[in-house]
Amino acid sequence: MALEYAVPLEALVDRAVNAFRGTYGREPSVVVAAPGRVNLIGEHTDYNDGYVLPMAIERYTVVAVDAAQHDAVRLESATMGDTATLGLKQRADLAEQPGWAKYAQGVLDALREAGFVLKPMEGVIDSTVPLGGGLSSSAALEVSLMTAIEAVSALAITAQEKALLAQKAEHKAGMPCGVMDQFSSALCEAGNLMLLDCRSLERQSVPLADPNISVLIINSNVKHELTGGEYAERRAQCEEAAKLLGVASLREASLDQLAAWEPSAPPVVFRRARHVVGEIARTTQAAQALAEGDYASVGQLMYESHAAMRDDFEITVPEIDTLVELAREIGLEGGVYGSRMTGGGFGGCTVSLVRTADAEGIAKSIAEGYTAQTGQRSTQFITRPAQGARRL
Ligand code: ADP
Ligand code: GAL
Repeated sequence: MALEYAVPLEALVDRAVNAFRGTYGREPSVVVAAPGRVNLIGEHTDYNDGYVLPMAIERYTVVAVDAAQHDAVRLESATMGDTATLGLKQRADLAEQPGWAKYAQGVLDALREAGFVLKPMEGVIDSTVPLGGGLSSSAALEVSLMTAIEAVSALAITAQEKALLAQKAEHKAGMPCGVMDQFSSALCEAGNLMLLDCRSLERQSVPLADPNISVLIINSNVKHELTGGEYAERRAQCEEAAKLLGVASLREASLDQLAAWEPSAPPVVFRRARHVVGEIARTTQAAQALAEGDYASVGQLMYESHAAMRDDFEITVPEIDTLVELAREIGLEGGVYGSRMTGGGFGGCTVSLVRTADAEGIAKSIAEGYTAQTGQRSTQFITRPAQGARRL
């Protein structure tokens, strides 16, 4: 079977509740779920005040919790097989905690700094979002944990505020991300993509209701180990471009402005800006084409996005380029409208828009070609646009 079928949410919830019973010897009082996300188009545009077009995926992080008598937040990750104990009033010594504790501590700190009073609690985390694959397992962790805390501590907090605080948590964990991942996990609607204006934070739902169209996600299962500073470096280059162009952000720059600037621009910074300015335009065009059912145009924009990420933004890797080329070779006649890398880059997943009837065959063909050309094994699945974070 070329397509992997996700553990259903109900089964994941049972797993988390059973683990809670096993560890704490009672029933959890609160169970929540928050999804991962896939971005159809609009990469590295969020921190440039641009547009993104993500949707939540049917892969979730579930948190089962109850209030506790001690003075901390104790969380077991069934996914990782370890436990973190975090300070409510002050930060725990993270050197003594599992690596993922930095996200949980970030959530607690962000909430506390926003003036919320948190109650001690204990719980279990479990997840079907692939870790480190560019599908935002860390955002799903932050948003699910915040949703659990919201219920246990009876906080009055809007979904948008939650998304912004979860973004702050990720910053505290050392990743200077934009708003896309946490907004997707907190606010996406079932059946819809979310066109998010990252400057005004206005959201528009773009339905994906056509049963003949499917979103295919292929995980390269490759994550190139870099120094870790590439994301921050891209961000800094974009800021430099905006400064040199005399605009507040690359959202304010036009392609004409870029063309006039090119002769005097530092070449690398210029290419970064060209990706971003082009990508912001491609994203609104794709949302429009999707709404009109013009899938061939959406697909074309996805290929253009990939080329810009590969050549101008330089965030793809050979394995990911191979996946996109294999999809392109199948082509429209074979049922592939378009394909591109999704997420921050340097590995992770591709997202492809495909004809539902051909999806299984497409997945099989790409998986085989990928292994033949790279020696790596991919995993692939189809998802409908899922619902954002909620208490179950
Ligand atoms: P992505 O968000 O694209 O999946 P990141 O590297 O940003 O990749 O985040 C992955 C990290 O998030 C993991 O290495 C782990 O530290 C943390 N994480 C995500 N989900 C869980 C989970 N269910 N339990 C514990 N830690 C998790
Ligand atoms: C992610 C980051 C997002 C966004 C994306 C690239 O890793 O968390 O905010 O910038 O990369 O589009």
